[in-house]
Amino acid sequence: MNNLECYDFQPELGSFHDEILQSLAQSKKAIAPKFFYDKRGSELFERICELEEYYPTRTEIALLKTHSQEIAQLIGKGSLLIEYGSGSSTKVRILLEALQEPVGYMPIDISQEHMVQASAELAQSYSELDVIAVCADYTQDFQLPPYSKKPVNKKLIFFPGSTIGNLDPTQALHLLKQSASLLDTGDGMLIGVDLKKDPAILNAAYNDALGVTAEFNLNLLERINKELNANFDLANFRHWAFYNEEYSRIEMHLISLKEQTVAIAQIPFHFHEGETIHTESSYKYSIEEFQELADRAGFDAPQVWTDANHLFSLHYLMVR
Ligand code: AVI
Repeated sequence: MNNLECYDFQPELGSFHDEILQSLAQSKKAIAPKFFYDKRGSELFERICELEEYYPTRTEIALLKTHSQEIAQLIGKGSLLIEYGSGSSTKVRILLEALQEPVGYMPIDISQEHMVQASAELAQSYSELDVIAVCADYTQDFQLPPYSKKPVNKKLIFFPGSTIGNLDPTQALHLLKQSASLLDTGDGMLIGVDLKKDPAILNAAYNDALGVTAEFNLNLLERINKELNANFDLANFRHWAFYNEEYSRIEMHLISLKEQTVAIAQIPFHFHEGETIHTESSYKYSIEEFQELADRAGFDAPQVWTDANHLFSLHYLMVR
């Protein structure tokens, strides 16, 4: 395929072993949510996206479909589309179908294998499009590889799924600033952001009746057992997710149902009854709060779309 190129910036993966041991040695045990996504975790996340209670995915897809022509008008001809993460080929295809003669598509993902596969499929479907797969960690500082095959009128960073909500507001601001630094004045960013709402809707979205989110959360312990020779008994931990109003975030934890000691790579870790491992935060914003964050990062916010029930927002930001 001569419209596919790959760059590997060899992002530091940070050893799973070292990070887990460090995370669980803290007085407040917490594991970074990036560790959810082994093969099983990624499959479970795909199932979450289809759950009745988990509104973000279908609401964002509907927003993209409804407003794709307007988005295409804002971007104009000859754009270079840069996507953070490469999981959502459904979403990027909606954009690619609508954009006027896009010249290139540049997915940026830490997981090379998955990205190269997804990129090859896209390069095959869109033979006029240059696909440039970049293996990098978009939460860290990095540069875009040079692209000069065709003239680019505008760069657009696409960051769907409200994945920005899994960063705390300081990290989110850093990501937006780093994104602005990759772009030029007038370039854009299209970003999906989950909205503040009735906590009952949020609590249901992270406590689905089928227990898929619970399985997704507990799979982290299963992964530690498999990869780090640990002996977590999954029956002794329970999924716990709730909306923390003070911080405007869903918190996911694994709660120890009894006093117990678990060995990981032969090192003992003690848990009190009721002690938790904080596994994820998912911050929710109002439209104004997110626009203010974007403003602090150097973006104007000329357009935002939301659904009739104000569940989810899709922001078009433009570098000043
Ligand atoms: C990937 N991320 C935006 C999801 C979220 O809603 O924060 C991850 C997730 N965790 C539980 N359900 C979905």
